[in-house]
Amino acid sequence: LDSIVEKLYRPNFHFTPKANWMNDPNGMFYLNGKYHLYFQYYPDGNVWGPMHWGHAISKDMVTWEEQPIALYPDEIGLIFSGSAVVDKNNTSGFGKDGITPIVAIYTYHNMQGEKDGRLDFQTQAIAYSLDEGMTWTKYDKNPVIPNPGIKDFRDPKVIWDDSSNKWIMSLAAGNKIMFYSSLNLKDWKFESEFGEQLGAHGGVWECPDLFPMKVEGSDETKWVLIVSINPAGPNGGSAAQYFVGDFDGKSFTPNEKFLNQLQHHKAIWLDYGRDNYAGVTWSNIPESDGRRLFIGWMSNWDYARDVPTFKWRSSMTVARELKLIESNQSYYVQSLPVNEVYNYVEKEIEKDSVNPTELSALFNTAKINMAKLNLQFDLKNLKDANYSFILSNKEGDTLALGLDNENNEFYLDRTKSGKVNFSEKFAPHVSKVKVSEKLQNLKVQILLDKTSIEVFYNNGETVMTELFFPNQPLDTFSIHSDDKTFKIENLKIQEFKF
Ligand code: FRU
Repeated sequence: LDSIVEKLYRPNFHFTPKANWMNDPNGMFYLNGKYHLYFQYYPDGNVWGPMHWGHAISKDMVTWEEQPIALYPDEIGLIFSGSAVVDKNNTSGFGKDGITPIVAIYTYHNMQGEKDGRLDFQTQAIAYSLDEGMTWTKYDKNPVIPNPGIKDFRDPKVIWDDSSNKWIMSLAAGNKIMFYSSLNLKDWKFESEFGEQLGAHGGVWECPDLFPMKVEGSDETKWVLIVSINPAGPNGGSAAQYFVGDFDGKSFTPNEKFLNQLQHHKAIWLDYGRDNYAGVTWSNIPESDGRRLFIGWMSNWDYARDVPTFKWRSSMTVARELKLIESNQSYYVQSLPVNEVYNYVEKEIEKDSVNPTELSALFNTAKINMAKLNLQFDLKNLKDANYSFILSNKEGDTLALGLDNENNEFYLDRTKSGKVNFSEKFAPHVSKVKVSEKLQNLKVQILLDKTSIEVFYNNGETVMTELFFPNQPLDTFSIHSDDKTFKIENLKIQEFKF
């Protein structure tokens, strides 16, 4: 059974641990040509258990090599989510003999404290590495931030802030974010808190990430604050929302225009699908590169423990580049797959314009493998037409997505995509996103792997990421519209060589 599941469900190009349970990405940093990814890991089972930090390294964020476990639980507690920074100026003093220390900042979760009904069982701690993140020494004066009496107090994400010349930490604290600052990563000062009255609530806030971004096509810089929430996502369970505003070294102020949008939508989501959670961005990306690079946990607490992969559980999303744009009277974060994925393209078909029948024919003659696919195209002059794509197989499993132009919404329907009954929360309904106006033109990009679909509309302004577990590979593609003149333009079909 193991090898059948392996063949059918082990992703072609999404990171999974070789065995056992994984959740959030942690401690991501770049150094000397290598992207480091740590992750919440339980090495002794395929459901959540006492947390460690697993580790993987990649030269391009696409192909990963798993490494030995980086951090083990100890007498203070389990190792929950957190971040890592490259301390170039040795502000921490952990550096020795000219070696730059990498400092990890993470949450300790004390199980006994939790059992005893205390509120202060989560604290923040640090560890350092002098060998590029391979081995770590925990600070002997941990924790560096004691718990002020807040039950959910976790997931420190630290950045160096050039303007205030300080390390800034964002920390999830129940239903808000707390900001701290430090000069040496050891002594932390509380600065401010944000969010109790804003955005989506109804779940606990987790895994924040605060960072500055240039607004595309301008010299303006705005700050983006990503906040994961579980449950209460737009289509159920876990999801990540974001805020756009300013940060002055002390507090985060949401932008006026962004606040206007919030009045209409309550929350703006990084991803409207059900499987992109706890995502954060890489630190120490060289200025010459300048990208803001993100990866998320491609699952959802609603059913992560139940998905039908047994040897391992969970994968990460494709690594994504985030961009900040000003459009439609507000600011939006776009996400698109990192360009590095296109280095793996093996087969490519391009067409200026095809109709649905021609498109299906292209797929058949080229024998496109739909489990390692990038598909891009434009739809123009949509009028009021609906369109849908359907992926299917001979078992009758179908995965459908498209635009319902009458109700102004995108949808993604995995309710008949194969194995869905392992959890009643997996596919109780079709996932949907409202679009603000009738769409006339639409850019579509779809990344397909064996068990995941990542849909990027309009350069990643609206994203839907979801898992599915077909009984056999999905191997048939069709596209439908109620408009007889429907054309697929600027088509690109790319098959990867993984
Ligand atoms: C998010 C999360 C974090 C926590 C970790 C524990 O998925 O709940 O808040 O640190 O997972 O594994």
